[in-house]
Amino acid sequence: MNKINLLDDELINKISAGEVVERPMSIVKELVENSIDADSKNITIEIIDGGIPYIKVLDDGCGMNEIDAVLAFGRHATSKIKSTDDLFNIGTLGFRGEALASIAAISKVLLKTKEENSLYGTLINVEGGKILKKAKCGCEKGCSVEVKDVFYNTPARRKFLKRPSTEAMYITDMVAKIALSRPDISFKYIKDKRMEFMTSGNNSVNEVILRLYGDELYSNLIETEYNDEYMNIKIFLCKPSYTRGNRNMQILFVNGRFVKNKIYTTAVEEAYKTLIPVNRYPVVITYLNIDPKNIDVNVHPTKLEVKFSDEKEIFDSIYKSIKKCFK
Ligand SMILES: Nc1ncnc2c1ncn2[C@@H]1O[C@H](COP(=O)(O)OP(=O)(O)O)[C@@H](O)[C@H]1O
Ligand SMILES: [Mg+2]
Repeated sequence: MNKINLLDDELINKISAGEVVERPMSIVKELVENSIDADSKNITIEIIDGGIPYIKVLDDGCGMNEIDAVLAFGRHATSKIKSTDDLFNIGTLGFRGEALASIAAISKVLLKTKEENSLYGTLINVEGGKILKKAKCGCEKGCSVEVKDVFYNTPARRKFLKRPSTEAMYITDMVAKIALSRPDISFKYIKDKRMEFMTSGNNSVNEVILRLYGDELYSNLIETEYNDEYMNIKIFLCKPSYTRGNRNMQILFVNGRFVKNKIYTTAVEEAYKTLIPVNRYPVVITYLNIDPKNIDVNVHPTKLEVKFSDEKEIFDSIYKSIKKCFK
């Protein structure tokens, strides 16, 4: 029998980085969710070559003081949960407190942050989980995180990355979905030094759709709503003459979060079934608001999938809302 060893922190961080960071897109998602949780009004996302050599997320949120900025890189460091009670009333996007630790374990991170009333900001440089530098710095209120050389110290994981253009596609898609989920925040997305899109943050979903997907898609959309005592739903759906070759634009937001749900996809496809050709897919962007008690968001570790307590009710309301537009 081998002797049991206790793993050191560096190794533990590397292992659990595997759960949080699958590819550069996961890093962008975690960083942007942190910016949203920090009440930012403006968030800029910059990537180069699919995010593998470089990712930057800059926000104008609450920022951190020097002490918290160091703590933030610790495992299970979170300002979002203090007790088990909080676990069941979670209103923020992150709460496991391991994103920054995981990201810093497998890349080179430069964080700069400042709180509103503080004179100086704090700069922290972490590589492979080790803090190399901590200093005062001048910066604006908020937070900027630069991530370089993703998986530089875990070559086995780096091998699984796709081409930069494919990794970039994953990121673009994720950023678009986050921008759609928060029309009240202005997002600027810069890919390989070129600005891909910018949303105004003026709280109009219509405008976000137009900026992200252009005039052709936008002019083919119909808007409809459904309300009952159980939920309210707003749907942007395409005319049957406008379809796509994949399911990428069958988008669902539940209580402001992008999620995947099988019942939703089935309801959408059943509703369009007789209206569009086989192997074509509709564009249906749905905003569903429902009492959090009636959903379970933790069925998946990355929190992308939800379960509804009454799936039939969800199916019916989506299906009927779409059907009634084409009577
Ligand atoms: N952009 C940011 N602005 C302000 N605080 C931040 C930002 N990003 C991270 N933090 C702080 O660092 C902590 C750790 O972040 P993270 O590792 O993503 O864990 P979690 O988001 O699950 O709490 C957060 O709880 C928050 O207090
Ligand atoms: Mg987080």
